[in-house]
Amino acid sequence: MLTLVTGCRGRVGSALAALLHQGGHAVRAASRNPAGLSLPTGVPAVACDLGDPATFPAALEGVDSVFLYAEPAHIDAFLAAAQAAGVRHIVLLSSSSVLVPDPASNPVAASHHAVEQALTASPLTTTLLRPGAFATNAYQWSGAFRSGHSVDLPYPRSEGAPIHETDIAEAALAVLTDPALQGAAYHLTGPESLGAAEQVAVLASASGSPVTVNAVSPAAWKEAMAPFMPEAIADGLLAYWVLTDGAPAEVTGDVEKLTGRPARTFDSWAAEHAAAFRART
Ligand SMILES: NC(=O)c1ccc[n+]([C@@H]2O[C@H](COP(=O)([O-])OP(=O)(O)OC[C@H]3O[C@@H](n4cnc5c(N)ncnc54)[C@H](OP(=O)(O)O)[C@@H]3O)[C@@H](O)[C@H]2O)c1
Repeated sequence: MLTLVTGCRGRVGSALAALLHQGGHAVRAASRNPAGLSLPTGVPAVACDLGDPATFPAALEGVDSVFLYAEPAHIDAFLAAAQAAGVRHIVLLSSSSVLVPDPASNPVAASHHAVEQALTASPLTTTLLRPGAFATNAYQWSGAFRSGHSVDLPYPRSEGAPIHETDIAEAALAVLTDPALQGAAYHLTGPESLGAAEQVAVLASASGSPVTVNAVSPAAWKEAMAPFMPEAIADGLLAYWVLTDGAPAEVTGDVEKLTGRPARTFDSWAAEHAAAFRART
């Protein structure tokens, strides 16, 4: 059984390709830039740009299952090419943002929701992985840590249950390799709810770099983010943080259900990635 893993320059895709290979499963690693991949020996690379349907047939040839990033632009063409190639099962890296009441009109959820809708309307077996906030989102604060600046937060008490990227990859491995887990949706979270300022404190402790949290207005945060983030996404995040301000995030057992062991803590993520948060001397 051959699995195509899209997005292999990403942390989840690259970890999953390595896990499949280690487990003796045939895997083909896809990326918009396959030359930029560093893969275990024996894993072939292929070009697959979800924004360019011309890349689909060669990437999908002989493939039985796909790990897919949520890019809606050409999802119908991708599904048609997958069916033509004989694909049986698609695992989507979706998002728990689709669980909001009206995901189609939510700027953060809409693209994931559109791809979920297309997949569930297709005859292919579809498994939806819906992670909440990635622990890797903490990298947004690494520059402040390294340069000794404060971390500016519009909602320091906004809570999330950050999930380790390896847990997402291991969950994907489980659903790709165990038919009993396929055809369902899973809400993946970390094991505990933590406020944004609490996450900063965990990183400070792990890295040994003292840092102060500076509560800023939503307008000031949005202005600072303008060069890096579309306005609609910034507005969507701010609206989400209003809802999660001081409200414990839902913690599910879906990582353990899929992988057989508890989700990794944010403390463990911070310890593994402490070097990225160490102040320059
Ligand atoms: N960050 C979070 O808190 C969070 C929470 C829930 C869900 N998610 C979702 O998880 C996914 C990854 O998140 P991230 O934060 O790691 O994002 P990211 O760093 O922006 O995305 C990196 C990945 O997206 C792939 N990709 C992007 N455009 C692509 C295209 N046109 N065709 C094929 N692959 C494409 C890249 O693959 P190549 O460069 O190798 O082609 C790469 O693997 C996103 O869909 C995101 O919405 C994120």
